Amino acid sequence: MKSKKNIVLIGMMGSGKSSIGRILSKELNIDFLDIDQKIEESENLSISDIFKKYGENYFRKIEEKICLKHLKTENNVISLGGGGFINLSIRKLCKKTCLTFWLNWKNETIINRIFKSKKRPLVTKLTKDQINNLIKERSKIYELSDYKINCDKLDKHKIINKILKIYENK
Ligand code: S3P
Repeated sequence: MKSKKNIVLIGMMGSGKSSIGRILSKELNIDFLDIDQKIEESENLSISDIFKKYGENYFRKIEEKICLKHLKTENNVISLGGGGFINLSIRKLCKKTCLTFWLNWKNETIINRIFKSKKRPLVTKLTKDQINNLIKERSKIYELSDYKINCDKLDKHKIINKILKIYENK
């Protein structure tokens, strides 16, 4: 198989990185790595329990270690947790060795999705305004990705086709 850069999906919680990543990898017949899942496997705890037991700083250290290990590979689709790309070391390695795609949605869409989810310890105690601010701050960094996909008017297959088209021309 020709060696190609990893596809890395970035964006806020609830932006569909894992579900889109999984389909994308099937279409391309390459492996899919979900960083949150790798963290859970390495700690033998759910993300929520890692936050509860050890706190966010500990989670971020593990996240960095796991990301730096997996981002050095090739020919994979990788979904980062929403805070992954915010970390400078992770971002630098992504930019050097991978193609990064930001799955961008309107704040409203993201907020509705994360309020429905019980798996998101970072935002459980935040108000709508605080989440809006978090999205605003993070978006400045997500903008540094190689490609921004505006997802709101697209169905899942259109999002996937856009990514495939870019990747196949690389
Ligand atoms: C986080 C996002 C989560 C998970 C953790 C922290 C964040 O991943 O890594 O709860 O900081 O945005 P998803 O983006 O896959 O939900």
